[in-house]
Amino acid sequence: MADKYEKVIELAKRRGFLWNSFELYGGTAGFYDYGPLGAMLKRRVENIWRDIFVINEGYYEIEAPTIGIEDVFIASGHVGGFSDPLTECQKCNEAFRADHLVQDIVNNPDTMSADQLTEVISRNNIKCPECGGRLGNVYEFNLMFKTSIGPGSKRTGYLRPETAQGMFVDFPRLLKFYRDHLPFGATQIGKAYRNEISPRQGVIRLREFTQAEAEIFIDPRDKTHPGFREICDIVLNFYSREDQTRGSIQKMKIKDAVDKSIIAHEFLGYCLALTYQFLVRVGIAPEKLRFRQHMKDEMAHYAADCWDAEILSERFGWVEVVGIADRTDYDLKAHAKQSKTELTVYVPYDAPRKVERSVIKPNMGILGPRFKGKAGRIADVLRSLKPEEILGDTIEITLDGEKIEIEKGAVAFESSVEEVHGENIIPHVIEPSFGIDRITYSLLEHSYFEEEAAEEGEDRMRIVLRLPPEAAPVQAAVLPLLAREELIKPAEEIIRKLRKAGILAAYDDSGTIGRRYRRNDEIGTPYSITVDYQTLEDSTVTIRDRDSMKQVRVSISDIADNIHDLVCSGKSFEDAGRKV
Ligand code: GLY
Repeated sequence: MADKYEKVIELAKRRGFLWNSFELYGGTAGFYDYGPLGAMLKRRVENIWRDIFVINEGYYEIEAPTIGIEDVFIASGHVGGFSDPLTECQKCNEAFRADHLVQDIVNNPDTMSADQLTEVISRNNIKCPECGGRLGNVYEFNLMFKTSIGPGSKRTGYLRPETAQGMFVDFPRLLKFYRDHLPFGATQIGKAYRNEISPRQGVIRLREFTQAEAEIFIDPRDKTHPGFREICDIVLNFYSREDQTRGSIQKMKIKDAVDKSIIAHEFLGYCLALTYQFLVRVGIAPEKLRFRQHMKDEMAHYAADCWDAEILSERFGWVEVVGIADRTDYDLKAHAKQSKTELTVYVPYDAPRKVERSVIKPNMGILGPRFKGKAGRIADVLRSLKPEEILGDTIEITLDGEKIEIEKGAVAFESSVEEVHGENIIPHVIEPSFGIDRITYSLLEHSYFEEEAAEEGEDRMRIVLRLPPEAAPVQAAVLPLLAREELIKPAEEIIRKLRKAGILAAYDDSGTIGRRYRRNDEIGTPYSITVDYQTLEDSTVTIRDRDSMKQVRVSISDIADNIHDLVCSGKSFEDAGRKV
C-alpha cells in the first residue's frame, strides 16, 4: 500500500504542484519543478513569511546575487569547511554519504573525520548498497557549486550555499540604512544551492532550494527582546540537549525555557515563537512540530546556540525545516578580516562615562635638541602609542620608513580622566533560517486527508487538502450548476469581480457539481461558489465550505468582499451568510 509520501507526491504531480525537473530527459535527483498550483502555494507561504518578518518585525528584504565571489565564501568558512564525507564504490562508481552508511553502527557519525569513517567502513566490512562492491577511502567533498565569473576562468565564483552572506556583506550599507542603530535586521528569500552527494529523499533534500532567512544584528550585551512578554506564554514541544539524552520531548512555556536557561536568551526564545506562529499559520500541525536543540558537537562552526524546528513526516520522521542560531560575531569578524574593513557599530552610552586613561607625554626639552626639525612629528607618533605597549628601556618608532630608537626617559607617563560617550562594538547576529521547500511539502502532507464524505450523490471517499485559506493556491472556484448559457453568464461575472478584488478564482463547468467539488477539495480550494436557478431569481449564490461541506446563501453584490474576508481576514464561514 502506498505510504503518505507516495500519496501526496502522486496528488502533487497529477494536479500540478510538484514535478520532477527535466522529466523529458529522464530527470535528475535533487531538483523539483513547482507546477502552476505548487508555485502559487509556495509564493503564498513566502508571503506569509514576509508578513511576519518584513512587515510586522520590520526586517526589510534585500536581494543579493545568487553567485558569490570567492572572498565571501573564504570569509564565511564555506571554501574551507562546507563539505560532506564521500565514499565511492570502486566497482559501479556510485557515490555515497559515508556518515549515512555508518549511522546504524556508530553514534554521531557526522562528527567523525574522513579517516575515522574510512576505518569504520573497513572494520565493519560495509559494501556498496547498490552493487555490493568495495567502497573507497572517504574524503571531504565540498558542497558548493563552483563556477567562473567572466571568460577565461580567471575569477572563481560559487553559487551561494545560503542567502545569509548577502546580509553580512551588505552590513555597512544596512547599518547606514537603519541610521547606525541596533538592533536591526534584514531578510532575503531566494535560491541557495548545495551539490548534495546522493540525494535520495525526494523533495526533502534538494540541490537547488529556497531559503527565507533573517539576519538580526543585536547588541551582544543585550539579548532581551521588547516583544518577549507577548509571546512568552506560548507552549512549545521542546527537545533540548538533556531531553535528547533522556529521549523525551517536553511541553513548556517559552518563558520557563528561558528562565531555566534551556534557551540561551530571550531573543532566541522570541524567534522560536515567531517560527511556531509562522509554521502553524501556513498549515503545519502543531502536534507534529518540535524544537530540537543542537548538541554541542553538532553545532555549526559559527553558532553559540542553535535550535531546529523539526516537522514530523510519515516517511522521513522528524525533518529539520528551520534553523534558529545565535551566530555571535563570527560572520562580521570574519568579513572584517577578509575585507580589511572595520565592521562595527558605534553605540552611545545612556550617560557619558568617566574613564581614566594613561597617556604618553613627550619631553620636548630632550627631543627638540636631539631631533631638531623632526622632533614635532616624532612627538606625535609617541603620543599615539599606548603606554602598556612600552615594555623595555627604549621605544622604537618608524618615521618616513626610518627606524628610530628613543630612550624611555624622553617621555613621561601621565594619567587623565576623560569623558567617553560610547564605544564601537561588533554586533551579534541572530539568524532564523527557513527551508521553504521542506515546509511547502510538509504542509501538503499535514493537510492531506482521505475521508468519508456524506455529500449527496457523490463518491463516499474524498481526498481533501485542508490548507489554511490564506495558503491555498486557488482561493475560490466558481461553478455554474449546469453548463448553460443563463448560468454561465452570471458565473463569469462573479469570476471577474473576484479577480478584480485580487482573489485567485477558477472557473469550472465540466462534469457533475459533485465531481467539481471533489476536484477542488483535493487541491485545497477553500470555497466553491455555485450559480444555480435561484441565482436568476434573487441574485444570490451558494458558498460551499471545503472542510465542513456546509453551504450558505449569499448575495452576489458583496461576494468579492465576502470571499476576501473569508480568505484573508480570518472571517468564519458561519458569518459568511445564511445557511441553505
Ligand atoms: N544560513 C544557515 C544555513 O543555511 O544553514
